[in-house]
Amino acid sequence: MKREVAVGAAEGLAQGQRKLVFIDGRSVVVFNVAGKLHAIENSCPHNGASLANGNLDGSLLTCPAHGLRFDLSTGCMPGAGFGQLCLDVLPVRTVDGQLMIEVEQA
Ligand code: FES
Repeated sequence: MKREVAVGAAEGLAQGQRKLVFIDGRSVVVFNVAGKLHAIENSCPHNGASLANGNLDGSLLTCPAHGLRFDLSTGCMPGAGFGQLCLDVLPVRTVDGQLMIEVEQA
């Protein structure tokens, strides 16, 4: 079962910014990329490094650990191919000015 969790005011997350939140002990990063929201698990699919401080270039997020890049617009490494890794993406939207993230019921 899924539920939505409020993680703060949307106006606090300006374009180009990110926010680290915790939901049921999970670490989640919310990005505002050119006005579009993206929420991902704060764990790189390569080896579990934190992505919260990764460099963001447009929608391309670079993992600080080994430099793999992920496109937040798809959740996956750019360029489809064998062995392509993808982030764990969570649905996020704004409701009444609040950032709402959809998670599986714990
Ligand atoms: S843990 Fe992210 S690139 Fe290796």
